Amino acid sequence: MERLVDSLFALMTLEEKLGQLTQLSGQSTEAGPRVRAEDQARIRAGQVGSFLGIYGAAYTRRLQRIAVDESRLKIPLLFAYDVIHGFRTIFPVPLAEASSWDPAAVERSARVAAVEATAHGLHWTFAPMVDIARDPRWGRIVEGAGEDPYLGAVMAAARVRGFQGTDLAAANTMLATAKHFAAYGGAEGGRDYNTVDLSPQTLHQTYLRPFQAAAAAGVGAVMPAFNEVNGVPMHANADLINGVLRGRWGWDGVVVSDWNGIQELIPHGVAASRPEAGALGLHAGVDVDMVSAIYLQDLPAVVRGGRVLQREVDEAVRRVLRAKYRLGLFQDPYGYSDVARERAATLTVDHQAAAREVGRKSIVLLKNQGNLLPLAKSLKTIAVIGALAVDAGSALGSWSADGRKEEAVSLLDGIRHAMPSAEVLYAKGADVEGSDTSGFAEAVRVARRAEAVILVLGERRGMSGEASNRASIDLPGMQEELAKRVQSSGKPVVVALMNGRPLAIPWLDEHIPAILETWYLGTPMGSAVADVVFGDYSPGGKLPVTFPRATGQIPLYYSHKNTGRPPSEEGNTSKYLDVPWTPLYSFGHGLSYTTFGYGAPRLSRRSMRATDTLVVQVDVTNTGQRPGEEVVQLYLRDDVGSVTRPVKELRGFRRITLQPGQRAAVTFTLRSEDLAFYDRRMNRVVEPGSFTVFVGGGSADVKEARFEVTTGTQLGDALLR
Ligand code: BGC
Repeated sequence: MERLVDSLFALMTLEEKLGQLTQLSGQSTEAGPRVRAEDQARIRAGQVGSFLGIYGAAYTRRLQRIAVDESRLKIPLLFAYDVIHGFRTIFPVPLAEASSWDPAAVERSARVAAVEATAHGLHWTFAPMVDIARDPRWGRIVEGAGEDPYLGAVMAAARVRGFQGTDLAAANTMLATAKHFAAYGGAEGGRDYNTVDLSPQTLHQTYLRPFQAAAAAGVGAVMPAFNEVNGVPMHANADLINGVLRGRWGWDGVVVSDWNGIQELIPHGVAASRPEAGALGLHAGVDVDMVSAIYLQDLPAVVRGGRVLQREVDEAVRRVLRAKYRLGLFQDPYGYSDVARERAATLTVDHQAAAREVGRKSIVLLKNQGNLLPLAKSLKTIAVIGALAVDAGSALGSWSADGRKEEAVSLLDGIRHAMPSAEVLYAKGADVEGSDTSGFAEAVRVARRAEAVILVLGERRGMSGEASNRASIDLPGMQEELAKRVQSSGKPVVVALMNGRPLAIPWLDEHIPAILETWYLGTPMGSAVADVVFGDYSPGGKLPVTFPRATGQIPLYYSHKNTGRPPSEEGNTSKYLDVPWTPLYSFGHGLSYTTFGYGAPRLSRRSMRATDTLVVQVDVTNTGQRPGEEVVQLYLRDDVGSVTRPVKELRGFRRITLQPGQRAAVTFTLRSEDLAFYDRRMNRVVEPGSFTVFVGGGSADVKEARFEVTTGTQLGDALLR
């Protein structure tokens, strides 16, 4: 690889080098995504290294031929795209997949996405998004794994393994991109792109943790975030990109800017001109300039004037060439552009079955009073109510690559297929938004005719995702009113929520007996939901994010600090007058059609040195009548520290299946890195003292035990493996 890179390097002009650092975007046309005529000329002239949003086996082959046959240096192009949760077969949105707490399922999802995407000529995905999000107003919460750095780290690594496989050069694996580096989810007020101002401890412990896991899993690329962190926009943040990511962590992949991120250094107010913005970006360690064309157009003059920038260009170009090499493109530039494979590997029966399986694993049963769910298959008349029940497009969620709504199964269709001999009635009731109540009467009529009602409520898919923030996380429009009317029909009502963020739904929680969080589950959504509703599958998902009771509680997350005046009903404590301080549904919450009993956690020792390991074991028993899956969760608290520590932090989990009456001993091993934190001087330390271990089926439903750490230690922060 190095010989090839060196030999190319010796031939390259500065303009050709900057061409390799330039990424241009395609345009969507009726024939599919296409590049502009002038951009084809740029390929020939060696002025472009990669495209985003261009795919299709035959078309990418044609473009690749221009690069390989008609450009002077014959360097193959890279084709990149946002393949976030599936390419044509769409899987659950990432927040839903995180609700599965099943890294093997999430890895499989990314694997299938890579198989389909690479068959369409794609080499590179801008996923996984690994941003921690503790503000559900922020629309991009849907694209990540929720609020917790430990769960986020496990999911990040699983997705990287799924996309990249074990051999990047294989034609069905693709380069993954951990994004958005860093703290993008920390935007003030939940407004996308907004300012982020954080302590270094929170930055490193919470927001950087999943990036570190992605880096340790070998992620090939990282994308900086649009936001600033503590006054420095990430596209100019040399301390975090070159300093932490490349320097302290020793990661050696490609950094690709976000869309126009280099140019945006100007409105951020750290660059006065395009050349200045380009120099800042390059100097920070951003190798590839997505769409602003500043590197291509404005950097030549600047770079010629400075040694440092020349060296930085060279390093960036080497990183891009190495990525192309690792993907196998110098050996076979057309390996990914295979028309036969494209036909065979798209929306296969296997892929759809995998998406349905991950879909049902991702559903969270929030409430099930009187075991209303599952509904009996012997029901003769069922009412399905709600605009979202027929919105197959929304089932796909934000970012759906080449997914098609005509291929998606709506909730109504899923329920109809599952109950061929029942009469399934439908009424819209109300739109998702707006104030029209003219459909209420019909909805109530339909409810009255049925033995049970499935009421589908939530948000359209465009209400979460990029730049899709909401100032209130209440149910939009007249949907809560609709729920009140339908509930007053006196029929048993099951609510299925379709949404891309936690919603504040205290009324539903109080009055509706059964509530399923179904998020957006992708192409087979309706089938996956029907599997759960009629009991072919017992739900086992758990919330990866806290559900507040009211928007005003935000940010609300389980791993908060205790404060000097922990909340309680009495006196001057950290609480609200108008809303309880507790969440509606806590992190890790999720019910099953069966029940699980937990024994007390057993510890292998009561005291340990920081460098020892501690084994925690817990007996979990299926105490109900049906087989079921449970996510056994382990949390830890450092009881007294030199800085305050959260009341609880996730440090292990396992999704297990138990038959009725069956018991399993679940084992977790705690190591020094599980006990460590960043102290006042930003050293990663384990301090001596007492720790509490909590084990249970949710962060608020745990049994505990204590142990002592007798001697402390200091850990490095090179890549955690
Ligand atoms: C988003 C990125 C995405 C890029 C390319 C940007 O607007 O922030 O997440 O990868 O567009 O589509």
